[in-house]
Amino acid sequence: MSRHVLDAEHYTSPDTLVKEKRYLFGRLWIFVGFTSMVRERNQFFTRKVAGIPILVQRTEAGVRAFINQCPHRLSVIQTEASGKRPMVCPYHAWSFGVEGELRGLPNHGLYQFTAAEREKICLRKLHIEEVGQLLFINFAEQPLPLPEQFSPEYLEQLREASLYLDSQIIYSCHRVRYNWKLNMENVKDYNHVPFVHPKTFLPVMESPVKALIAEPEAPSVVKGLLSRAEAPALSSLSYPTRAPIKPYKSWFSELCEPYRDEHIYYNWFIYPNVNFCSVRGEHFLLQQYDPVSPGETDYHLWMMSARRKDVRTDFTALLSTLIRGERAVIAEDTRVLERLQDGLGAHSASFMHGDYEEHLVQQHLWYRAHVLEVTE
Ligand SMILES: [Fe+2]
Repeated sequence: MSRHVLDAEHYTSPDTLVKEKRYLFGRLWIFVGFTSMVRERNQFFTRKVAGIPILVQRTEAGVRAFINQCPHRLSVIQTEASGKRPMVCPYHAWSFGVEGELRGLPNHGLYQFTAAEREKICLRKLHIEEVGQLLFINFAEQPLPLPEQFSPEYLEQLREASLYLDSQIIYSCHRVRYNWKLNMENVKDYNHVPFVHPKTFLPVMESPVKALIAEPEAPSVVKGLLSRAEAPALSSLSYPTRAPIKPYKSWFSELCEPYRDEHIYYNWFIYPNVNFCSVRGEHFLLQQYDPVSPGETDYHLWMMSARRKDVRTDFTALLSTLIRGERAVIAEDTRVLERLQDGLGAHSASFMHGDYEEHLVQQHLWYRAHVLEVTE
């Protein structure tokens, strides 16, 4: 249909993933976790972001992010997924200070480093920003200003909503066999809900597919976008949506402080790879699609209720039920997307997009200009 949208090869090609790592994940602010995961000094979590091992740790200076790798033999510094421990490499016990600088060097006589050499040894520190309770890192030495990626109004919304997140979190990560971009496109595509989730998600929604009421002769938005083929502003790729859900009362709403008191399903799409949602402001989920290979993605999922009124309330059972329900919905998407990915190849035609998929086309136009066709 158009040479401006992405082709199937961009979902299967290792060269494309190399470009994404350099120009997309290497330049944009990427969500990594929640401030509640690093509340106390020396509390940390580790994970991978687009294949790079990351350590987020609260030091005496605040929340800091590093590449989780010792400058000596490149060993991992923190080996657990989360915990509370100073930054000491388990291999030769080098230890690091609040900004990642070398503090202790046991058996230092063996190394014969000069004072000047020793001065330069430090962990590779990454830029990190807190947006309410959401933590974002950036791999660039001079990152783009956060308000360039997310509009100031949108940042304010994220900040406000995230302050309602409870600190008791349930988390899961599973690997799926499709390209990460398919998932971001899938969550922005509300027209799949009646067909893929007829028994799970659909019954909850009041009107899942809001028909685009357009004049029959009105020009197509998508065709207009494609004929101009201009890359949109990066900040337009992240936006909120609201969809009405059938009114109901949940037993736990009185035990927490809901974000809003409306029968609404809230979505905050956070480009490039996060879908942050809330059901009635009573519970929240954050999904992240992290690339492993062109055809494989780590699907991270965090869920929590709104802030508990009393921290002694234990929501373990509630969170287990909520995540089981969410995983059932995700499994329905996974079946479709894994089959889709499995069929992609040189024989595949380009994707087609109707007007309701305007946001997908915008994403493709931005991606073409800033990832595929970069001239350095
Ligand atoms: Fe879905």
